[in-house]
Order: sequence, then structure tokens, then C-alpha cells
Amino acid sequence: MNEIKIAPSILAWDLGDLEEAIRISVKGGADQVHLDVIDGHFAPNITFGPGTVKALRGRCDLKFDTHLMIDSPHLYVDKFLEAGSDLLTFHAEVLTGSRFDDLYRAVHAKEKEMGLAIKPKTELPRWAADRLDRISTLVVMTVNPGFSGQSMDMSVMPKLQKISALIQDRGLMLDIEVDGGVEPENVHEVVKSGGNVLVAGAGVYGKKDPVNAISVLRERALQVRKAQ
Ligand code: DX5
Ligand code: ZN
Repeated sequence: MNEIKIAPSILAWDLGDLEEAIRISVKGGADQVHLDVIDGHFAPNITFGPGTVKALRGRCDLKFDTHLMIDSPHLYVDKFLEAGSDLLTFHAEVLTGSRFDDLYRAVHAKEKEMGLAIKPKTELPRWAADRLDRISTLVVMTVNPGFSGQSMDMSVMPKLQKISALIQDRGLMLDIEVDGGVEPENVHEVVKSGGNVLVAGAGVYGKKDPVNAISVLRERALQVRKAQ
């Protein structure tokens, strides 16, 4: 079982002051910071691109977990790698096995980590299940991509449990990242179902004390682990 990690999603902060969002993550001891890139096609919002990622890269050393919710990732993979992403996650819905293989070559040429993400209603495709040994992270979304502040779709939990069992059966050490609506109140279900990386937008940046909110999520998750 991989260790618990907290990944605040800066999409939930004031987009005019992302430097402060990063500062909060560093101060709160986050393991990585989650950067949501949305192109207005794959999902109904437009956030930021490689220029913003690069500007933030110059301001901290925290691991950059870039979640690409875009239709044509092959056109931008190099740009996001050059911008300083450490983990680059692509959506399975816009890929095929051979498209994945092309992206894999690009990411590994730069010695970075690769992730795959699936939307709440997407089952893990066969080509992706066959390639789990090549990624560091599987992102299971628990809201429809687009916006921070939605509530978690609990109907995703059985899928999360199935994926977690599959990964354990194969003896793989992937991170299972749960993205969407993570709050202290549902950390129990998420960790019990096999999630170990908790992405939290509103669950961190929407709180009165966001620095402390990072510790609250971590403590809740560790409590669940202790009881397991
Ligand atoms: C949704 C994004 C999520 C989201 C998380 O499109 O991928 O990362 O910002 O924010 P919360 O935790 O508020 O759902
Ligand atoms: Zn995300």
C-alpha cells in the first residue's frame, strides 16, 4: 500500500494569486500540488496553460502534479514537460493504446512520471489495464471534470475498490489518486476504498485555515490506515 499523500488543487484558490496558493501548499506540508488544465473542449471550463505552470515552477520546488483535461494532449505534452510538470496525467477517454505509447515515450524521454485519469462513469479500458506498469498514478475522478467545489460522487467507490484490488493483485505500487469533492467527511470512504493520494480543492482552499486543512486531511487518512 502506498503512503498517504495530500495534493491541494489550486483551481479552488483565487486564480489571480496562484503564488499564494502554492505558498499555502508548501506551508501546510502538501506532498504535491495539483494543477488542473482544462481546454473548454474536454470539459466545460478554461483554466491555464503551460505558461502559468512555468511561472509557478520558478516559485517553488514542490512536486507539480499536472492534470490535463484536454482533447489533444499529444499537441501539448512537450510544452507541459518543459514547463516543469513532474507528473503529467492524461485522460484515458481521449487516448488509445498507441496514443498512450507515444505520450509514454515523450514523458519518459524527460524522465518524468506519467498518470492516467478516468472520469466518474468511465471504466478502466483494457489497453490501460494492460499498461498499468508504465504509470506512477491512476487518477480516479469523483466529480465530472470542469469545476472545483462539486460534491463527491460516492457511486464511484465500488470502481475504486475494484481498481485498487486489481493493482494489489498484480503487485504494482501505483499511487491511486482520488480527485473531486474530497473533504474531511469522506476521507474515510476514500482511503478504505483504496485511494492514497487525496486531491482537494475546496477541501483545502475553501477552508478558513487552508494551511491547517492539509493536516486535517492527512490526519483523517492516517487514522483510517491505522484502523485497517
Ligand atoms: C475538476 C478538477 C479537480 C477539482 C478538485 O475538474 O480535476 O481537481 O479542482 O476540486 P474540489 O476538491 O473542490 O472538487
Ligand atoms: Zn484535477
